[in-house]
Amino acid sequence: MDLQARKIVIIGAGHVGSHAGYALISQGLAEEIVLIDIDRKKAEAQALDLFDATLYLPSRTLVRAGDYQDAADAQLLIVAAGPLPDMSKGQTRMDTLRQTIAIMKDVTASIRTSGFSGIILSISNPADVVAHYIQHQLNWEPRRVLSTSTTLDSARLRRALAQAIGVDQKSVTAYALGEHGESQMVPWSAASIAGKPLPQLRAEQPDTYGQLDLDAIAANGRAGGWVILGGKGSTEFGIGASIAEVVRAIFHDEDRILPVSVLLEGQYGQQGVYASVPARLNRHGVAEILELTLTEEEQAQFAASCKTMRENFRLALTL
Ligand code: 2OP
Repeated sequence: MDLQARKIVIIGAGHVGSHAGYALISQGLAEEIVLIDIDRKKAEAQALDLFDATLYLPSRTLVRAGDYQDAADAQLLIVAAGPLPDMSKGQTRMDTLRQTIAIMKDVTASIRTSGFSGIILSISNPADVVAHYIQHQLNWEPRRVLSTSTTLDSARLRRALAQAIGVDQKSVTAYALGEHGESQMVPWSAASIAGKPLPQLRAEQPDTYGQLDLDAIAANGRAGGWVILGGKGSTEFGIGASIAEVVRAIFHDEDRILPVSVLLEGQYGQQGVYASVPARLNRHGVAEILELTLTEEEQAQFAASCKTMRENFRLALTL
């Protein structure tokens, strides 16, 4: 039996694509990475820069520029093409829908003829709607098309919560769910510190945990992307690490639960909409969607976020 080399194709060699590449090669998650970009010279430059780095990294990965034919024998395809929101115009991620869908028309047509039959991890904004659009255009099983979506927002939320409490962010569990964008919500009923439910801690220790301003913490996490974008014009390391986390769950068949955007088909009372929820990931892609028990208020917030994405998905289909 031949050993199969793990091959990843990344569409878009900009900030996100290149930093995803670096996170993947640093963690030894593929034997080959192919970068595709409409700017071929840029794809070649990023690939060369990444490949040079591999000499001083623990594992070998061939990184090169290529085209869609390279996807035929790849197991994973990362879609990281599209614009960043223009903060000077007050654009949200959702406001980039038209521009991104124009690009996704070509991307999906090219994927269709490439012979690719693996798993698609979509990053391009607006993340949830674009993942849905790709799945719809390709008419693939939803378990094979997902977005990192609030994997990144959940990291920002855990950082904000951990800082407010004064512990390391890996010791707190909390999710941002729904949209990778303004309508995301935080189910505080499912947050815990070292396994102890946060609502219980707040009731038992009103002078400490009870004093936490949960709305401010959620807003702090949600604002993370804007602080980074405003300060340096791009976000890249956080999303690169989030991508690697999802890829590791898939390639290592981990059955790891991460908040990712998937097609909801009845879960959380939602039908036919991509939204971020905790999901079990393994080599088949999305193996299972976990349903948290939300409070009535949280359920309403989640439904409102889904409504935004459903409306924008319908709009995307008319573009
Ligand atoms: C981020 O949140 C801008 O969606 C990008 O980092």
